[in-house]
Amino acid sequence: MKSENRSSFTGKVGFVLAAAGSAVGLGNIWRFPYLAAKYGGGMFLLVYIILAVTFGFSLMVAEIAIGRKTGQSAIGAFRQLNRRFSFVGYLAAIIPTIILPYYSVIGGWVMKYLAGFVAGQSSAMAQDTYFTDYIATAGEPVFWFLLFIGITAVVVMLGVEKGIENVSKFMMPVLIVLILIIAVYTIVSMDGAWEGVVYYIKPDFSHFSLMTVVAAMGQLFYSMSLAMGIMITFGSYMKKDISIENSTHQIEVFDTGVAFLAGLMIIPAVFAFSGGDQSALGKGPSLMFITLPKVFDTMPGGNLIGAAFFVMVLFAALTSSISLMETIVSIFCDKLKMKRIPACILVFGISVALGLLSCFGYSILSAVTVFGMTFLDFFDFISNNVLMPIVAFATCILVGYILKPKTVIEEAEAHGGTFKQKKLFSVMIRYIAPVCIVLILVSSILDFFGIVKI
Ligand code: PFF
Repeated sequence: MKSENRSSFTGKVGFVLAAAGSAVGLGNIWRFPYLAAKYGGGMFLLVYIILAVTFGFSLMVAEIAIGRKTGQSAIGAFRQLNRRFSFVGYLAAIIPTIILPYYSVIGGWVMKYLAGFVAGQSSAMAQDTYFTDYIATAGEPVFWFLLFIGITAVVVMLGVEKGIENVSKFMMPVLIVLILIIAVYTIVSMDGAWEGVVYYIKPDFSHFSLMTVVAAMGQLFYSMSLAMGIMITFGSYMKKDISIENSTHQIEVFDTGVAFLAGLMIIPAVFAFSGGDQSALGKGPSLMFITLPKVFDTMPGGNLIGAAFFVMVLFAALTSSISLMETIVSIFCDKLKMKRIPACILVFGISVALGLLSCFGYSILSAVTVFGMTFLDFFDFISNNVLMPIVAFATCILVGYILKPKTVIEEAEAHGGTFKQKKLFSVMIRYIAPVCIVLILVSSILDFFGIVKI
């Protein structure tokens, strides 16, 4: 993108809200709770929070500073900083291309549930096998997936993101209040729910495994929209007089807060409905869609509450999918010299093709697995556990050893800004983060090829 065309955020609030809109999405409400349930409850939460305030913080500051300093999105930014690191920009650009299709499949599930609650079908949706039966059909999930990705594409094509963002600014606080109400309702009214609260909040070291850290770190990248060039792009739109450090803290607190509350809503409900059968915790991607409808079904006015909940989740998902598609489209426009509309159509086409694989992976292609995973799980794994760590590692090396942390620190302190945690930042980016990432990457790859089960 040429600098004269770059718009900039009107102020700090604009920047933080746009970045938070991208960060808060299905990752927080759907992905975080099922990973926390699966990988150790309180232990996962603890590891996640420690990583967020150290590792996530440092990487986000670095990415925003890189974007603001160069005024470019990922590919241009990495090339400008060091030619040998151009490949990182390209790698970062592939990640949203892999995520968007399967993100939209899940967005389609959300729309299906929304339609179900609007039609008053809460008791049907509360049945144990409703969700698995539904995704095993070949037609309907495709329809909802196409609708979700279609809406995303139309918004990006027409450039009306602002409209969606404005609605979502209002929806977000309501979503948080609703999550709280659902959590309190479950905990107070259902037998066994308290056990779930304890499992979720109290770290139990016997639940710790290397996979806890691997999963927490993958989730951190995903949830904070890190290691895929998005925060670099956002940084390039950010004005110089806004504090990078404070903005990062705000995005982080907001993002982690929503994830925490989503876990508090879902995990106790799993305990309440499974009657102590811990295997229910390992349900994975389907967890939210199986557990929450049961809660809504027991609530007075459950259809209305269910519908309200899924409307808000839908908006949170749309702000994220729009930012994913926007990033890919802007790369296609810049690099392939395409016009916006053809680029949107091309990205839509690629997303439909890859998304159909994820959709059919539960139905007509269910016999096909990639390294033992369904297509959706595979795309999720390869982006979060393999590609993102590589991009994050390269970013640490570039910032920590080639540019040196002072480049980022100077950018953060430009125009009288302060950077209180610069010591933490330097140590993280040079030593701790790269070592952790390599460990994570190696263990993911060993796990991937089935060499070691972690
Ligand atoms: N951070 C989003 C979420 O947690 O749902 C997912 C996401 C959105 C990742 C946008 C990347 C992105 F560019």
